Amino acid sequence: MKINLANIKKAKKILDKSECVAIPTETVYGLAGKAYSDKACLKIFKLKKRPKNNPLIVHYHNCKDLEKDCILNNDFIRLYKSFCPGPITFVLNLKRNSKISKFVTNNMKTLAVRFPKHPVTRNLLKKLNYPLAAPSANLSSKVSAVNSNDVRDDFGKKIKYILNGGKSSIGLESTIVDLRNKPKILRLGGLEPSLIQKILNKKVSINNNPLTISSPGQFKLHYSPGIPIRLNVKKTKKNEAFLLINKKKEIKSNYYFLSKSGNLKEAARNLYSTLRKIKKSKYKSIAVKKIPNRGIGKTINDRLNRASKF
Ligand code: TXA
Ligand code: MG
Repeated sequence: MKINLANIKKAKKILDKSECVAIPTETVYGLAGKAYSDKACLKIFKLKKRPKNNPLIVHYHNCKDLEKDCILNNDFIRLYKSFCPGPITFVLNLKRNSKISKFVTNNMKTLAVRFPKHPVTRNLLKKLNYPLAAPSANLSSKVSAVNSNDVRDDFGKKIKYILNGGKSSIGLESTIVDLRNKPKILRLGGLEPSLIQKILNKKVSINNNPLTISSPGQFKLHYSPGIPIRLNVKKTKKNEAFLLINKKKEIKSNYYFLSKSGNLKEAARNLYSTLRKIKKSKYKSIAVKKIPNRGIGKTINDRLNRASKF
């Protein structure tokens, strides 16, 4: 995609003043503010209507910048070299003298950090002398935004500026891995756990139990389109949309396909925009046909599972 430098300059000007800007990333759009500014971070919580005890992810251009705020370790360096920039978020210990606003972490001593790959946001981050706190750019507990129109739909004129970067290429949030002790995945995401395990060459546990959450993205109800979702369904009810992984020979008006041929990566990319489209079409509920539970299909199922707790 072509990079519009004037737009990036405009975003920087607003961020420098501790105001918020929506930014594109390859996973989903983020609602960004200066991570060293209390004012900017409080504004993010207010705009998203996000509970203050749900900490924010901070976005850096590279690991040299990160060193000012966090204590790095060998597992981090390995994964950074293999996957960054990319769809992985690391939970690390904060340094005592870090300038990160206490509102980012809700006074915790840990920080979730990420290095987004999207060229527009990488260009922006390079020009800033501070990192960006940025949760997904959607209202709290709802479906994430994967293009600038989704962000506008959720926030209207309340957001000063949306830096456009087209459609997010992955379409699901990053994988969160806690690296403070034994590596532990806190949220499934755009990067498969088996790839992380391969690089670390040791067991990586997956903490998908909502009773022992340490990452509120694991709260039961999340990623909700605002109408009920039924999973593993074969037949729809009245006023119900039918979400299918691939195209069928017989097509009815309430059928929505995530991919032409059942490709899971394509399905992931289309998931959130399809859920938004169905909601706009005034269906009362969504029935989902079984989706293969492999590769990124596991992340799709994780999100649909949480969205179904409506
Ligand atoms: O792909 C992504 O990760 C996107 C893009 C914009 O970077 N961001 C994103 O942010 O999904 P958000 O805020 O919607 O989800 C971040 C998750 C939340 O569930 C939060 O609870 C968790 O990360 N989190 C943040 N800081 C944490 C910490 N110190 N320890 C554990 N979990 C943390
Ligand atoms: Mg989110």
